[in-house]
Amino acid sequence: MNVSDLRVRVVRKAAEALDISTFELVNVEERALPAFSAGSHIDVQLPNGLTRQYSLCNDPTESHRYLIGVLRDPGSRGGSAAMHDLVQEGDVLHVSAPKNHFPLAHEAAHSVLVAGGIGVTPILCMAERLAVAGASFEMHYCTRSPERTAFLQRIRDSSFAGRVQFHFDDGPEGQKLQLHRLLSPVRPGTHLYVCGPKGFMDWLLGAARSAGWPESQLHYEFFGAEIVKSDDDQSFEVKLASSGRVVTVGREQTVVQALAAIGVEVATSCEQGVCGTCLTRVLEGEPDHKDMYLTPEEQEANDQFTPCCSRSKSKLLVLDL
Ligand code: FES
Repeated sequence: MNVSDLRVRVVRKAAEALDISTFELVNVEERALPAFSAGSHIDVQLPNGLTRQYSLCNDPTESHRYLIGVLRDPGSRGGSAAMHDLVQEGDVLHVSAPKNHFPLAHEAAHSVLVAGGIGVTPILCMAERLAVAGASFEMHYCTRSPERTAFLQRIRDSSFAGRVQFHFDDGPEGQKLQLHRLLSPVRPGTHLYVCGPKGFMDWLLGAARSAGWPESQLHYEFFGAEIVKSDDDQSFEVKLASSGRVVTVGREQTVVQALAAIGVEVATSCEQGVCGTCLTRVLEGEPDHKDMYLTPEEQEANDQFTPCCSRSKSKLLVLDL
């Protein structure tokens, strides 16, 4: 677990939209919080022992508070339900300092920000930053319906409201996101940022890659990842390069669990293949990548993997541990 000893108090918990709540967090020591940049998230240690990552969605120039938005996800493994049900105003939470795996490319001539559902949280922070910087950008925000759209009024009241288009699944055809128009032609210097649920991301990034967007102009962060279990998941062995020790990873086990059983701890945070905390070098063998952290090119290189969720296509993986 990577949560540092930054203690914050929940000073405001508010219903932001249907099934979405925001939590405003301030330092219990009444000091400025560590600075953050657009796209940053914090690890939050939940009352039920889980750790989850939440993007900061307030203006990154603010140092007196962190604002996070949390969707109550029916498919949750306990993270979002714990935030909604167990965390109340006045509670103290342990969080990490902000980390940014989803930064803005400051050299961009134009930025296209696309949010799906609760994926709006880092995207909104980016819009705030780009607006303050006077940069060229547009934002597209796709949700199921206006009642499920977090920050609707905040965006409509913002200085950049004119650059935001809302796309509601239950709205008229004319306002739906026109992918072809958004992604074609690929313009040099234009960077695309996408955050949302996996299906949305796969749809959008797949279309962008098909339209010829180079990876260097694509930026994304997955949300609410689900690790796909497959009937093909077999047991395999991992070998620790330092000691030569070999451990069997059973069909129902993760590599992290199998290693923990012999006393080898790998630092983890999300345990969903999203954050990259557990990233481990692979010296031999072919991983079966199930993460959403590595780019397709990085996965193809097969020299690192996320043992919290990824498995092995070969009978043996030799790890740099
Ligand atoms: S712990 Fe987050 S990717 Fe493995």
